[in-house]
Amino acid sequence: MRELRVTIQEAERASYPIFLGSRLDEIFAQWLRENGPWGRVALISDDRVATVHGRRWQTILAAAGLGVVTLTFPAGESSKTRGTKAQLEDDLLAAGLGRDSLIVALGGGVTLDLAGFVAATYMRGLPLVSLPTTTLAMVDSAIGGKTGVDTDQGKNLIGAFHPPQAVFADISHLETLPEPVYLAGFAEAVKHGLIASVSHFEKLEHAAAALLARDRQVLESVLAESVAIKVGFVEKDQRESNARKALNFGHTFGHALERLSGWQLSHGDAVARGLLAECRLSRHLKLCSLADEKRLERLLVRFKFVQEPFDRLGPELTPEPRGRLAFNDYLRATGSDKKARDGKVEYVLLATIGEVARGGENSDSWTRPVADDTIREALWQTW
Ligand SMILES: NC(=O)c1ccc[n+]([C@@H]2O[C@H](COP(=O)([O-])OP(=O)(O)OC[C@H]3O[C@@H](n4cnc5c(N)ncnc54)[C@H](O)[C@@H]3O)[C@@H](O)[C@H]2O)c1
Ligand SMILES: [Zn+2]
Repeated sequence: MRELRVTIQEAERASYPIFLGSRLDEIFAQWLRENGPWGRVALISDDRVATVHGRRWQTILAAAGLGVVTLTFPAGESSKTRGTKAQLEDDLLAAGLGRDSLIVALGGGVTLDLAGFVAATYMRGLPLVSLPTTTLAMVDSAIGGKTGVDTDQGKNLIGAFHPPQAVFADISHLETLPEPVYLAGFAEAVKHGLIASVSHFEKLEHAAAALLARDRQVLESVLAESVAIKVGFVEKDQRESNARKALNFGHTFGHALERLSGWQLSHGDAVARGLLAECRLSRHLKLCSLADEKRLERLLVRFKFVQEPFDRLGPELTPEPRGRLAFNDYLRATGSDKKARDGKVEYVLLATIGEVARGGENSDSWTRPVADDTIREALWQTW
């Protein structure tokens, strides 16, 4: 078991531990004892996770003497809405949960975002504990305090910063994940290597086979490193005004793709393609090298994000029905992305594996505005 910590200098209240390991039952129980007293507890999960893992955590909470109310909603991104949030809030009110209650979010990124947002506003804010159950949630969503829901206009447009009191990332949860969901989180781990640590990227290259086999020891060590990178960015910039923007690498293209596929493509698959597209854009701008791009492509193939060398895929990245991604649709999708500023979309660009290309006109910036024509040349005309 490893313990990491997010330390936010300005606000001690926003600092929290992240426990990562294989059987965290006792650590969780001890944390509850040491950090209470708590009133009642709402355990919030999607219906799939509740069925597979709910009882284990209900039992621990009950054994700690806490009154537990379990609330579920249908699994999937389509539940991450204001409607589901309102339903959960009505359920909490009906169950009579007051200001002294604790929200425990058990699940993937959808559950953590949704239950976290409920915790942010219910009775003007309740304490939150996150129990991530997907690879993606462990290395990404559980850390940083972002919560929120989607609307028809785009993902995560309504939300709040509401850091948890503690995160318990129990690797044993990962054993019940379908392979594509399990692998999806490695797109974010690869991203962490790309933007901050060539040694993390190398570790993913060396450990790929063991990770595919879900070797617990290797998983613990790789996930801990990936979590530490995300923690580093969050500590530098809690509210995403500067350094934390680097975490959006691959996401401008990725989010557009996710939307244009009608959410058929998973976030991990979309981000994997986005990493490669934005690496290619960086190469076109003479920032990173062709060798970097090829190396990234090989790693993404190992994690089964793309079946064939990307060169042959070109911008035909949408899932069935397979079709060329129209440049104009792409522009529209990124234009309404909330990262767009004054009509020009800002991209995080790569200098090399492990390092973001800083600067441009504004020397310290982690992003650079890229003209539409440049995107077209880099991604539509050369592919
Ligand atoms: N807040 C943030 O900083 C942040 C960061 C990255 C991603 N996200 C959000 O996270 C979401 C994606 O997260 P996700 O991929 O974890 O999706 P998810 O929560 O929908 O989980 C994926 C699927 O796996 C199932 N599942 C989860 N854990 C399981 C387990 N242990 N065993 C069996 N099945 C299990 C779920 O029921 C679901 O069907 C997106 O909405 C994204 O916007 C948020
Ligand atoms: Zn992401």
